Amino acid sequence: MPTLMLFLCLGTLVSRASSLEFRYHNTAEVQEYLKAVNRNYSSITHLHSIGKSVEGRNLWVLILGKFPTKHKIGIPEFKYVGNMHGNEVVGRVLLLKLIEYLTQGYLSDPVVTHLLNSTRIHILPSMNPDGFEASNRNCLYSQGRFNKHGVDLNRNFPDAFVQNDKGEHELEVWAVMDWLKSEPFVLSANLHGGAVVASYPYDNSNGGKVELQRGSSIAPDNDVFIYLAKAYSFSHNYMHNGQSCYGSTVFKDGITNGYYWYPLQGGMQDYNYIWGQCLEITLELSCCKYPPEKELPGLWDDNKDALLAYMKLVHLGVKGQVLYSDGTPVENAIVEVEGRKNLCPFKTNINGEYYRLLLPGNYTFKVTIPSQEAMMETLYIPYGPDMYSALKHNFIFQRSRNSSPDVTPSTESCVSKLRNQEAGRSAALLASHLTVLLLLALGRFLL
Ligand SMILES: *[C@@H]1O[C@H](CO)[C@@H](O)[C@H](O)[C@H]1NC(C)=O
Ligand SMILES: *[C@@H]1O[C@H](CO)[C@@H](O)[C@H](O)[C@H]1NC(C)=O
Ligand SMILES: *[C@@H]1O[C@H](CO)[C@@H](O)[C@H](O)[C@H]1NC(C)=O
Ligand SMILES: [Zn+2]
Repeated sequence: MPTLMLFLCLGTLVSRASSLEFRYHNTAEVQEYLKAVNRNYSSITHLHSIGKSVEGRNLWVLILGKFPTKHKIGIPEFKYVGNMHGNEVVGRVLLLKLIEYLTQGYLSDPVVTHLLNSTRIHILPSMNPDGFEASNRNCLYSQGRFNKHGVDLNRNFPDAFVQNDKGEHELEVWAVMDWLKSEPFVLSANLHGGAVVASYPYDNSNGGKVELQRGSSIAPDNDVFIYLAKAYSFSHNYMHNGQSCYGSTVFKDGITNGYYWYPLQGGMQDYNYIWGQCLEITLELSCCKYPPEKELPGLWDDNKDALLAYMKLVHLGVKGQVLYSDGTPVENAIVEVEGRKNLCPFKTNINGEYYRLLLPGNYTFKVTIPSQEAMMETLYIPYGPDMYSALKHNFIFQRSRNSSPDVTPSTESCVSKLRNQEAGRSAALLASHLTVLLLLALGRFLL
């Protein structure tokens, strides 16, 4: 018996030695780690930088999947982004741990194996490495929150509801905007700290049209967003209980509409959804933004199942291609779901692909391409995540020889039209501006 115990102890020591330590790794160490993972697991990982921070640090993304180097038709693209606010560091640690878990579990753990065989997973552990290096180990304050130019990156994206910029953005924001254009992302989460809640779009509103309901700014895919947020909070060890931080609001079921919590302009989740056709939620993972290292194993334990469960939801709904009958894909076909007036319509990519996250049920689709009558089809959509695949369905058009060139509007023009329609609503916007300023003045700390 004593021999057996000694053996078990040694076994534990050996496996610990080769695993990622629960501590805060600096930017250089993270880079080393990602390179080592990429070397050791070259067939299921691909490492690339999506750009540089203001101080010239690479924004490394590790891609995991059976086909890591490029998009394959029918395999949905998923992403996790951490550490956008440089002093909110739990997500950064969890994402490195998740990378370890996924690589070590491939072909041994069935959930991990199914996930990596069916999904391409992109992980950006730190969107704001300059902020991370500038932050100090503090639970509440905001040193390190901003990028090197003192800009809050989660206020620096184009905003669909208000003209908030002159087309100028921070390097880190440009990198993410370009990244969104480079892959047909379907689902995403942005990991923050300072509260414990899953917050979903919209974060902003134009102040009183269809989307503003009882203090929430409701997106056309609200049912899906609530499902996504609850999937995280209920798979988390306690987020769903509603955790108050330092006496702050208790969130029922551990979820909230972003605008209902507090309105903000230029946020990343609204941008992903409206401009990128990628549903994104914001996960606040701990009351303390920069907790002591001894709490990190517990935080991983609290979040591990939720991080995995959330990724599986990339397989909700329906996916497929819009094709001519001879098999040629139709790019920029508009794929609409009846009853969901998306601000910018979802369009097919260069392969004619579309992905629509929807809860099980019957839905009528309207598919529009230039110079042909729109196609309407009703589909029954089952629950895909358990099978690691959304329903597959192609929409086939008869080719018309004399078809005119593509005239579908770009996302940019769709959003500028939207802003112009709302130009008359500046009074309401000013009011929401004032609310934010007032809250800040009252000393509410930033999340
Ligand atoms: C990579 O493999 C080497 C050699 O087996 C090992 O020492 C190292 O811990 C591994 N690193 C990672 C991050 O997997
Ligand atoms: C995943 O793909 C690998 C490599 O092709 C294959 O060996 C394995 O059987 C697949 N596993 C599952 C669960 O799909
Ligand atoms: C979907 O439509 C089918 C066929 O009309 C019907 O039998 C089924 O009950 C519907 N399912 C739901 C969930 O509405
Ligand atoms: Zn934050």
